[in-house]
Amino acid sequence: MEEIEPLIAQAAQSLCEASAVVCLTGAGVSAESGVPTFRDAQSGLWSRFDAAELASPEGFERDPGLVWRWYMWRLQQLEAASPNPGHIALAELARTIEKFDLVTQNVDDLHEQAGSVGVVHLHGSLFRFRCRLCAHPHRLREAERRAANPPACAACGELVRPDVVWFGEGLPLDALRAASEAAHGSDVMLVAGTSGLVYPAAQLPLIARQAGATIIDINVERSPISDRANLFLQGKSGEVLPRLAKALQDAKA
Ligand code: APR
Repeated sequence: MEEIEPLIAQAAQSLCEASAVVCLTGAGVSAESGVPTFRDAQSGLWSRFDAAELASPEGFERDPGLVWRWYMWRLQQLEAASPNPGHIALAELARTIEKFDLVTQNVDDLHEQAGSVGVVHLHGSLFRFRCRLCAHPHRLREAERRAANPPACAACGELVRPDVVWFGEGLPLDALRAASEAAHGSDVMLVAGTSGLVYPAAQLPLIARQAGATIIDINVERSPISDRANLFLQGKSGEVLPRLAKALQDAKA
């Protein structure tokens, strides 16, 4: 692996000169916290189901109990995880940089736990639940976690579902708008732990690039985003991000 210290210094310099920075994170950022990706979590008992059965409106229609139990299992996994140094470094960057927007594809709450505020959740959050029909928010009760079927909406009686984006669904419009505006208005876009294969999230670095931003990509391996980035910092986000935050502090001193 190439020694990335000079690239980290260059990235820190770009951040130092930027007045608006947006960061896009993906599953890789939570990997070091032990959060299994959707596919990794589909092991053991769950391996005989395909993603569409577990995470699509049609799958929920067909077998709401199966989908509910899958998400209660996912929720348990997310609750067992703690933020890693990458999450903590991003919260630190937000305190150092005047305008810093954090956009994530992750449905966990590890950015918030690390101290980040105003996080834009492009793919929703597994810590929120809502009615599938009227979207009324639902507060999860302890007994519902062990239930065989989803609870009923208190407002209309329809089924409650996790507030995450399923296959075949559009992204929440407010989150998408906030993310696109941040990308348009950024001088630097920091991308960490995303494969750049899932759209429209993967479009954000392209929007930022077209608007003239410098793109910095952090990933353990090259992706379609690294190929278009100005700087590719190869490594684990839990190691590279703290080094970047430290280099920025040094550059500002
Ligand atoms: N540090 C940095 N990058 C990492 C690390 C790490 N420790 N571990 C893995 N990665 C990289 C991988 O190389 C890969 O490029 O993180 C990326 C993860 O890619 P995906 O699993 O495709 O995750 P993501 O880009 O977030 O996918 C978007 O797809 O599965 C759906 O809903 C899921 O929101 C997710 C969406």
